[in-house]
Amino acid sequence: MDESAVLKRVAARALELVPDNSIVGLGTGRAATEFVRALGERARQGFRVRGIPTSEATTKVAQEYGIPLLRLDEVESIDITVDGADEVDPNLDLIKGYGGALVREKIVAAASKREIILVGSEKLVAVLGSRGKLPVEVIPFAYSLCRRRLADLGLRPALRQANGAPFASDGGNYILDCGTEPIRDPQELETSIRAIPGVLGSGLFLGMTERVIVGDENEVRELTRKSPSLPRRG
Ligand code: A5P
Repeated sequence: MDESAVLKRVAARALELVPDNSIVGLGTGRAATEFVRALGERARQGFRVRGIPTSEATTKVAQEYGIPLLRLDEVESIDITVDGADEVDPNLDLIKGYGGALVREKIVAAASKREIILVGSEKLVAVLGSRGKLPVEVIPFAYSLCRRRLADLGLRPALRQANGAPFASDGGNYILDCGTEPIRDPQELETSIRAIPGVLGSGLFLGMTERVIVGDENEVRELTRKSPSLPRRG
């Protein structure tokens, strides 16, 4: 079974969690896009939903399917968000942002009552950082300071490039892709990264995920957080 077929199956499972007439955060990336398409098909059949996209790319897909969209500042909270991830550890903590939408994704996750993550089984890791990269979004003005301070933390920051120029996020910011070893204490690293002036957010999503839907060629299974009352740490 190819990757797209696996992602379609996890997206279909996520759709079962979305109540009629809800406000849904729409993630970014391949898995999230499969979910937006499935939601769009359902909306065409009369399912009532309003979406809050985490990127311009997702906005475009949602519009193609006629999903009504809201701005984040038009709502008090989001009922459920469905997104992808680049790494998932056994606590359901994540690394996100390989697709460059990490800050908007984190804001939408923080505003959501439920954060649901869709991945192929290759994204499951024993320790965050195992794939060797942690994206950090920074204000362009602060880029060189951020790069030095991230290096001081033992990371190996490299400015993400696209078409021979610095990659710009939808917010017009830069991404420093930080080479990393497996991360011993993600919360401590997150606290240190957030203390750097000019950092808008890291790809560490800690204590935010309620459920991960994992697919491979054989099955779709769900992982749920063992301690659901954990405060959202961001
Ligand atoms: C976007 O910034 C990312 O956080 C994506 O959600 C993440 O990279 C997963 O994307 P894929 O589903 O395309 O692997």
